[in-house]
Amino acid sequence: LQADPPQRPQVAVFLAISLDGCIAGAGDTLDWLAPFQSAGDDYGYAEFAAGIDAIVMGRRTYEVALGFAPWPYAGKRLVVLTHRPLDPVQAARHVERAHAGELAALWPVLAAEGVRRVYLDGGAAVRQGLREDCIDELTLSHIPVVLGGGVPLFAEGLPGSHWTLARSRAAALGVVQSTYRRRGAPMA
Ligand SMILES: NC(=O)c1ccc[n+]([C@@H]2O[C@H](COP(=O)([O-])OP(=O)(O)OC[C@H]3O[C@@H](n4cnc5c(N)ncnc54)[C@H](OP(=O)(O)O)[C@@H]3O)[C@@H](O)[C@H]2O)c1
Repeated sequence: LQADPPQRPQVAVFLAISLDGCIAGAGDTLDWLAPFQSAGDDYGYAEFAAGIDAIVMGRRTYEVALGFAPWPYAGKRLVVLTHRPLDPVQAARHVERAHAGELAALWPVLAAEGVRRVYLDGGAAVRQGLREDCIDELTLSHIPVVLGGGVPLFAEGLPGSHWTLARSRAAALGVVQSTYRRRGAPMA
């Protein structure tokens, strides 16, 4: 007998976040991360990336990543969340599909294609995952920087949820990285 394939992949988030809760500075700047990225510690990213089968990211994260060379997600299946058509030339190089709306509609499609573990990326994308309560693992690398503004991860109106600390470590240059797993039912 063979086990039924899972209805949805495991969903994991891996974000660098400022002390004041931002994942990018004003104007999508990521330069505040540069000293930490060159500190000789990858903060577990390579191991994390090796364990995922597909990336699902918000359009703004995708568009920022288009400016990176080399392409940071080479060899990974990529779904971009967007309500608008993508540039077909760029999309043909990197994007497997676009998806709009509930993530719940995407998971069975990916699961049926053998995707077991998804990397959900982008602030709005992660908030959508929190709203749908489909995030299984949340890794936050707290960067010891107060940005004073930018792209916040969390927002008013998200449903409350409980998390269990799976591991935490102090990494290079005072980064504190914590991995949480979702616990129990949503808060009443
Ligand atoms: N610090 C970190 O670790 C980290 C990680 C990732 C990203 N970032 C940064 O965070 C910033 C982007 O985050 P963000 O919160 O602004 O945006 P995001 O989540 O990357 O993208 C938001 C956009 O994605 C589309 N979208 C999201 N969910 C959707 C859904 N369910 N259905 C259809 N479309 C959907 C919408 O685009 P449209 O409606 O316009 O199509 C929305 O405006 C960038 O600066 C990026 O570099 C930082």
